[in-house]
Amino acid sequence: MKFFIDTANLDQIREAQALGVLDGVTTNPSLMAKEGITGKNNILKHYVDICNIVDGDVSAEVIATDFEGMVKEGEELAELHEQIVVKIPLTKDGIKACKYFSDNGIKTNVTLVFSAGQALLAAKAGATYVSPFIGRLDDISTDGLNLIDEIRMIYDNYAFDTQILAASVRHTMHIVNCAKIGADVMTGPLSSILGLLKHPLTDSGLEQFLADYKKGN
Ligand code: E4P
Repeated sequence: MKFFIDTANLDQIREAQALGVLDGVTTNPSLMAKEGITGKNNILKHYVDICNIVDGDVSAEVIATDFEGMVKEGEELAELHEQIVVKIPLTKDGIKACKYFSDNGIKTNVTLVFSAGQALLAAKAGATYVSPFIGRLDDISTDGLNLIDEIRMIYDNYAFDTQILAASVRHTMHIVNCAKIGADVMTGPLSSILGLLKHPLTDSGLEQFLADYKKGN
């Protein structure tokens, strides 16, 4: 299972990269705005900065909503760095753009996916990644993990290459449950990754080992 971090914060990306378990980064316009990154040139530079920190794929989202605009913007994003994956919303024009990018060797992440039918369309259009938002489904009393399960079944039925990128991950149990179901990738905040470290028995066990060592030395 690949671990992506879902942020545009360079310090957090560096911290996750230093841990040695990071496989990529996802961003979106809201995450860029949260870091105060505005204006086209600053945004493009920020994507390159992120690519220079991590080794893996970095999702950069298009702002255009029409096919021609998405293609123009996506090609410009893909030119920035070989690690860039063009992130496209799951709309009619988005699916057309996904197919265009797939035919032209540009990696894609189809985002804002909330149903198995949408995920099927993304796979048919040759998406590299599909991003079902599990946290946002949980927020409206709908089981986000169930969607991951459905997509896994459909993709396995037809051996689709599209990777399931569980997005809108909010906490450690989302990660563990996505791993049990077989999501290919998860993207979440740094806190969700660091949360996997925690167990009180690890802490108390280590404390005891160190205390016992000190007794004999
Ligand atoms: C996915 O790529 C999105 O950036 C993200 O996971 C959305 O998460 P949120 O629902 O916590 O905003």
